[in-house]
Amino acid sequence: MAHAPGIDRRRIRELTERELARFTVERPRSTELIGRARACMPQGVPNGWMTELFGHDPLWIDRGEGPYLIDVDGHRLLDTNIADTSMFCGHSPQPVVKAVSERIALGPQFLMPTEDAIVVAEELARRWALPKWRFTLSATTANTEAIRVARHLTGRPKLLMFEGKYHGHADEMLVTREDGALVPEMLGLLPSVTEQVRLVPFNELEAIERALAPGDVACLVTEPALTNVGVVMPDAGFHAELRRLTREAGTLLVIDETHTLICGPGGLVRIWGLEPDVVTLGKSIGAGVPIGAYGMTEAVSSALDPVADYGGGDFVPEVATGGTLFGNALQMASARAALTEVLTDEAYERASRLGGRLADGIESIAASHGLPWKAHRLGPRAGYAFDGRLPRDSAETHASHDADLYRLLRLWMVNRGVWEAMEWAGPAISVAASDADVDHYVETLAALVIGLVA
Ligand SMILES: Cc1ncc(COP(=O)(O)O)c(C=O)c1O
Repeated sequence: MAHAPGIDRRRIRELTERELARFTVERPRSTELIGRARACMPQGVPNGWMTELFGHDPLWIDRGEGPYLIDVDGHRLLDTNIADTSMFCGHSPQPVVKAVSERIALGPQFLMPTEDAIVVAEELARRWALPKWRFTLSATTANTEAIRVARHLTGRPKLLMFEGKYHGHADEMLVTREDGALVPEMLGLLPSVTEQVRLVPFNELEAIERALAPGDVACLVTEPALTNVGVVMPDAGFHAELRRLTREAGTLLVIDETHTLICGPGGLVRIWGLEPDVVTLGKSIGAGVPIGAYGMTEAVSSALDPVADYGGGDFVPEVATGGTLFGNALQMASARAALTEVLTDEAYERASRLGGRLADGIESIAASHGLPWKAHRLGPRAGYAFDGRLPRDSAETHASHDADLYRLLRLWMVNRGVWEAMEWAGPAISVAASDADVDHYVETLAALVIGLVA
């Protein structure tokens, strides 16, 4: 692990101890709940991420209100993690509350379509300039289905991704490189998950060309900019070359906009003029109701055409897609309200302006204390490059990441009214936040930095 330059390590240790103690003392109700919860759930949480991602005991939540969370001990926190971007709409915006309440009263799920699905698909088609859309329950399942469609269409087995990627918790997407070899990224996965996967560094066009050369890659799945190792931006011209190389190789280009969709209507695909064969989405388009979606060209969508000659045997001659709750009425009602009434052009513009204000604030505090920090800038999202170098790939992010400093930053913030982004992400501004909220974040950060400079 790297050590951020100019920071007093002894102070990090002292302050971390003090802030951890304060976190617990000021949260008697949370402490009581975790005690009870550990008896009935592994790690005391319904989903391991709810504690693993944060570096302290889980914070138990009472409710969300616009840009804020209120925990069970009554602390009000500006939410800059926004549930890993999934609450970019802010907590419970009125149009979503109304649409979801009405829908649940009328029935949330039929395994039959409701008209809202057409409105949502039309709106996504308009934003991402791809004509056909399918729905799932998460971005993970959207990516899973997109890969199956690509394999079926191309008749090829391999999946190409970038080092430092994250596209969801599906077996083949959980492959990483260690000591030069591909390995399963976590436990519980078969060693064979690596067999049909290739991983190359982001921004390395020659490596991509080599990986495509055997002609066996069904699809390349990537985010426009990597967002799960801080932010790794593409070099100038990278995406144009990526498109050219994948077209020449007959490989489908799947762009995962699950996170980057917060940058604008139509995400970075629209802002940067990208030309994917498939776009995958999830998280914030549902405003908190589970949803995944993938959009595709007419050519790709032909893979999902009805099959005329299915004779009813055990083998079903269709691409394996679908699920009982995929495309349910509740998610469609929520997504319709989110897309048409919350995630408006103006809301995106404001959130991106505030993201820039946050990044400016981070850099100006660092500079005024002689620290080299650079802030990531990805629309509404900022973040930290403590060594002052914005990374070109995941290896560079890892080389500069200071886990101890980030842990202290999170603790300091949560004890002073800010729910900081989880490690490897960066603070992001929801459409519900204001200039004053950003200023509160920056002032709270400033107070920490003063005490840390060596
Ligand atoms: C880029 C990207 N794609 C897909 C996913 C998977 O999303 P989910 O966990 O909602 O399925 C994530 C989750 O963080 C992500 O960052």
